[in-house]
Amino acid sequence: MSPARSAAEIAVFLLLVALLAGCGEEVAPPDLRQPAGWDDALRLPDAEDHDPAPDVVEVHLEAKAVELEVIPGLTTEVWTYNGMLPGPTLRAKKGDRVVVKVQNHLPEATTVHWHGLRVPATMDGTEHMQKPIEPGEGFEYSFEVHDAGTFWYHPHIRSSAQVGAGLYGAFIVEETAEEAPFGDDLLLVMSDISIEKDGSLAPADESGWFGDYFGREGSTVLVNGKILPTVAARAGVPQRWRVVNAARAHYLRFAVPGQPLVQIGGDGGLLERPLPVDEVTLVPGERAELYMLPVEGESVVLPLLDANRFHLPIEELPRELMRLDLVDEPPGHGAPPLPERLTEIASIGTTGARGQAVEFMEQGSPDGSVLGINGQTDGSLMLLAETNTVEVWTLTNTTNYDHPFHLHGFFFQVLDIDGAAPPVRAWRDTVNLVPGETVRIAIPFDDRAGMWMFHCHILDHADMGMMAMLHLMP
Ligand code: C2O
Ligand code: CU
Ligand code: CU
Repeated sequence: MSPARSAAEIAVFLLLVALLAGCGEEVAPPDLRQPAGWDDALRLPDAEDHDPAPDVVEVHLEAKAVELEVIPGLTTEVWTYNGMLPGPTLRAKKGDRVVVKVQNHLPEATTVHWHGLRVPATMDGTEHMQKPIEPGEGFEYSFEVHDAGTFWYHPHIRSSAQVGAGLYGAFIVEETAEEAPFGDDLLLVMSDISIEKDGSLAPADESGWFGDYFGREGSTVLVNGKILPTVAARAGVPQRWRVVNAARAHYLRFAVPGQPLVQIGGDGGLLERPLPVDEVTLVPGERAELYMLPVEGESVVLPLLDANRFHLPIEELPRELMRLDLVDEPPGHGAPPLPERLTEIASIGTTGARGQAVEFMEQGSPDGSVLGINGQTDGSLMLLAETNTVEVWTLTNTTNYDHPFHLHGFFFQVLDIDGAAPPVRAWRDTVNLVPGETVRIAIPFDDRAGMWMFHCHILDHADMGMMAMLHLMP
């Protein structure tokens, strides 16, 4: 700068320098764009909302058989909601009223159960509270949604056969307030299906007693109805995976090689704190929300690992679940760090709480073992509880294999497993029972009196008799 410049000139120059420096820091916008078309191979359509009111969602579900190409080159008649596999995603905001008009075009009766949602007992879709929807008939479900989270829907009659034929879909309840989005949503409905060489669906009673007793795992694993689909990602740009295990019996255990993974949610919405994980296991019925902030690295295939629910001395080789395509673009930037606390989850006061014992068991019989709960192998067991009380249930499994316990209508917290508290507080509706382990759960019942169900969510087991009732009395 020449000394001939005036002080005014110098002042203007300094001001410009200061402004430009400020721009560099404050105005550079975060770049959190996903790669173009990143979820095209996976995006599931939302059910159309037929009610213009902002806080009412009215959707129409038609249960019907359609022919789809699930395995390339083969035509398979599957049972669907609205012709889609999985069914359309139901989406509402916390506090909304949801009306679902169901039409049954199947050759047999059905119902729809809203897995995880705290609906009135009469809307829960079980045979104890509702007349099954006969072929050609309809039913209108109507309820409010109180909890944000990842839920799902499926039939509750002959559920192994009907879910196995393709009847399931996701139900997402969004937070009303400005909840931190944590990343772009990617819904992953995982399931499996058994398709024969000629494209036909394997019979629902395939392998007879063996199928019932061991639980039918489909030969093909599907993610959003697809075989080995691809999702694209970019380093530095977070994704929020909402994963549902809609398989009849398959425990889904998977990892994301080379990428850090943090579980942020479970069955009943956000966990209390983020939980870094190396891999995820979802038992049938269970959900997880995962925060994936990719680091630079290789594209990978997510391995589907053997969850070994039979506790065999050998482990099966990994299969292929889905591809993660890490695009060759400069990394995004500006993702806020995950908060240390995701949500408030109060601990449940259990002093003076009534206790009940629930034993998943089996009994020898001339035609092979049968499965049941507390000595009842025909689904006739009924436990009693009172509205607006807290109960502590002690869950045990005296069989030789794992079983996922599921309770309708109410969230619970796991207090401890063999005396050890879980790492993070969470609301759940499904928990795995390992043989010989004791799981204590606390259930805060509210005022929704009626008949509720609890059962093993290996649906073949539930249908076989590992199912019971909870009569919640006013
Ligand atoms: Cu998803 Cu009775 O269950
Ligand atoms: Cu349920
Ligand atoms: Cu079971």
